Amino acid sequence: MTTTLPAPATGALGLGSTGLAFGCDYNPEQWDPEVWVQDVRLMREAGVNLVAINVFGWSHVEPRQGEYDFAALDRVIDLLHGAGIGVDLGTGTASTPPWLTTRHPEVLPVVADGTSRWPGGRQAFCPSSPIYREHALALVRATAERYGDHPAVKLWHVSNELGCHNAHCYCDVSAEAFRGWLRARYGTIEELNAAWGTSFWSQRYADFAEVLPPRATLSSGNPGQAIDFDRFSSDELLGHHRAEAEVLRSLSDKPVTTNFMVAAHITALDYWSWTADMDVIANDHYLDHRLPRPHVELAFAADTTRGLAGGAPWLLMEHSTGAVNWQPNNIAKAPGEMLRNTAAHIARGADGVCFFQWRASVQGSEKFHSAMLPHAGTESSTWHEVVALGGLVERLGELRGSRVTADVAIVFSWENQWAADLEAHPTTALKYLEQVHAFHGALWDLGVTVDVVAPGAPLDGYAVVVVPELYLVRDEHAAVIADHVAAGGRAIITFFSGIVDDRDRVRTGGYPGAFRELLGVRVDEFLPLAAGDAVALSDGSTGSVWSEPVALRGAEAVVTYASGPLAGGPAVTRNTHGQGSAWYVSTVLEDDARRELLRRVLDEAGVTPDPAAQPGLEVVRRRDEQHEWVFLLNHSDRAVQHTEAGHDLVADHPVTGTTVIGPGGTQIIRKDRKRS
Ligand code: GLA
Repeated sequence: MTTTLPAPATGALGLGSTGLAFGCDYNPEQWDPEVWVQDVRLMREAGVNLVAINVFGWSHVEPRQGEYDFAALDRVIDLLHGAGIGVDLGTGTASTPPWLTTRHPEVLPVVADGTSRWPGGRQAFCPSSPIYREHALALVRATAERYGDHPAVKLWHVSNELGCHNAHCYCDVSAEAFRGWLRARYGTIEELNAAWGTSFWSQRYADFAEVLPPRATLSSGNPGQAIDFDRFSSDELLGHHRAEAEVLRSLSDKPVTTNFMVAAHITALDYWSWTADMDVIANDHYLDHRLPRPHVELAFAADTTRGLAGGAPWLLMEHSTGAVNWQPNNIAKAPGEMLRNTAAHIARGADGVCFFQWRASVQGSEKFHSAMLPHAGTESSTWHEVVALGGLVERLGELRGSRVTADVAIVFSWENQWAADLEAHPTTALKYLEQVHAFHGALWDLGVTVDVVAPGAPLDGYAVVVVPELYLVRDEHAAVIADHVAAGGRAIITFFSGIVDDRDRVRTGGYPGAFRELLGVRVDEFLPLAAGDAVALSDGSTGSVWSEPVALRGAEAVVTYASGPLAGGPAVTRNTHGQGSAWYVSTVLEDDARRELLRRVLDEAGVTPDPAAQPGLEVVRRRDEQHEWVFLLNHSDRAVQHTEAGHDLVADHPVTGTTVIGPGGTQIIRKDRKRS
C-alpha cells in the first residue's frame, strides 16, 4: 500500500434526494413493532429523511446459519418508504451472531499478547478470517438480492466503522495474510530484510514463513515490522470493504459507503488510501472531552473529511445530540451546542448530518448514550432542539453542493502518525496529532480556513502549506513541498520532519533530512527537553518538549534560543527558496507564539484571516456561483458582534448593520455574491 490521493470531487452526495440529508442510526430490532409506527411518525415531525438501519442486524436477519428472515426488515423499510424517508441500508456484518462464533471460534480476534477476545461485544472477528468473510458475504448477497432495487434504499452502508475495535489482529490467520501482503510488497525475503533493517539484533529472516505480526515482545520491537503491520491492517479492512462492495455493486446500482472515523482517538486506518473505493465519503464524529478544545478538533476532523472527499460534499454519518457513553466523563451538550456542532460540520462541507441514534436504547451497553429521542421522550429539551434543527437543516438545503475554499493547506498523514509515534524515539512527550492539532488550532484561532491534504497532494492554489512533524516522508512527496515553495508558495515545517523514508530508514547527513535544503538549515542532534522544562526564546516566549542546535545553511534566524545550551542559536528560521520561502520551527512554541509566526507567514503570503472572525467566533464560508453562506459560530460565553448582512437561516430573518450573536449562538447568513 502506498498513500494515494483522494478521488476527484464529484458533485453533491447523489443520494437521490433534494436538500441536505438529515437522519440517524435506527435500531428497530430493539423495539416492539408498535413503536416503529410511532418512530416513523416522529421522524417525520423532526424532518428526518435518511435512516441507517440493519447496521447490527445479523442475528435477526440470519438467526441460524443460512436461514434468512427478512420479515421485520421488510416491514421497517416499507414503513420508512411510506413516510418518504430514505434508507441507508447496513449490510449487518459489523457484529457477528452467536451461532457463528460458537461454530467457528477461530474467527475471533487475537490481541498482541496472543490472547483472543471473546464475543459479547461487537466486531469480534479477525479481519483476515476467510470463514468470517464467507459468512459475511453470504449475508450481504442475500440482503442485496432482496433490497438492491428497493426504491427506499438510497445508500449501502458496509459494515460499521471498520476497524473501530478490531483493526489489528495477531492470530495465525492474520500472520499468514501478513506474510502474503509482505511477499506482494517485497517479492523476496532479502528485500524484506533490507526494508526492516533486520541486521539489527539478529532479526534476519531466511524465509517468509518465519515472519510474524508484531506480537508483544519483551524489548522494543522492529519499527519496520510495526509500520508494515499497520499498513497491512488498514489494507485488510479496506479489502473487506471491497469484498462487500463488490457483492453490492453486482446486485444494486445504489451508492456504497462505509462510515470513517476521522477522530483523535482512532488512527488505525489510512483513509487517504480508502477514498477511491467510496461512492460517498461519510464520517462519524463525536466531541472528545479528553481534549482541551473538542470543538476545534471537530473542525480539524471536518476539514480532514472534506480533504478525503477531494473538496466535494460529504456526509456526517453519526454525531450525538448530547453525551456519549464511552469517555471517562460523558459531558452533555449545553443548550445550542448541538446546533453549533451540526452547523460546524455543514460549514466545513457536510451535505448531510445524521445522529447516532434515533431512539435511546433501554438495554445494552449504549443505554446511556444520547439520542434524538431520549429516554424522557418528546417532553424533553433534546427533542425540541432536534425538531428545530430538522427545520433548519431543511432551510439549509439551498446550500447543497456549495464548496469551501482555503488558501492554506496542512499536510496530515495517518501513516506518518504510526511511524512518528512509535516507541524508542527521542521523547515520548511528542505526539504527532497534538502537533497537527496545534497548528490547525492556531489557524482556527486566527480565522483562517484550512484544507487538510495528504503528503504528495498537489499544492497549487495554496499560498501557505503547513507541515507539522512529518517524520516519515517519501522523496517525491518532499519534492512537492519544495516545488510549491520554489514556485512562490510558503511552507512552515516543524522539527522531527523529513527524518526517515518510507522504510523508516534515517536520512543521514544532518536533520531534517528530506527538507534540509529547502529549509537552508542543518541539525546534527536532537535535544528534547525534560518534562516540564522550557527554554527561553528571543521573542519573550518559551519553547518546550523539543529543541535543536540549528545551523544556518542559507536560512536566516527569525527567533533565537535565549537560554540553555542553545542560547543565541536559531529556533525559528526563514529561507528564501526560489520565488517563495520555507520556515523551520525547531521547538514546540507557545500558542501565542505559534499564532504570531503564522500571522507573519500569512502576511508575507498575502493571506488575510476572515474579516468577521474574532476570539471565540468561528467563521467559515461556503460558496456557489450565486451565493455565499457565512457560518458564524459563537463558542464563547459572551455576546459578539459582526456586520455581515444578508438572511440568517437560523432565525430565518434578514440581518443588516451590526448584529449581535449571544453566547453559544449560531447564525448562518446567506449573501448574494453579486451584491456582496
Ligand atoms: C460509533 C458506532 C455507533 C455507536 C456510537 C456511539 O460511532 O458506529 O454504533 O456505537 O459509536 O457513540
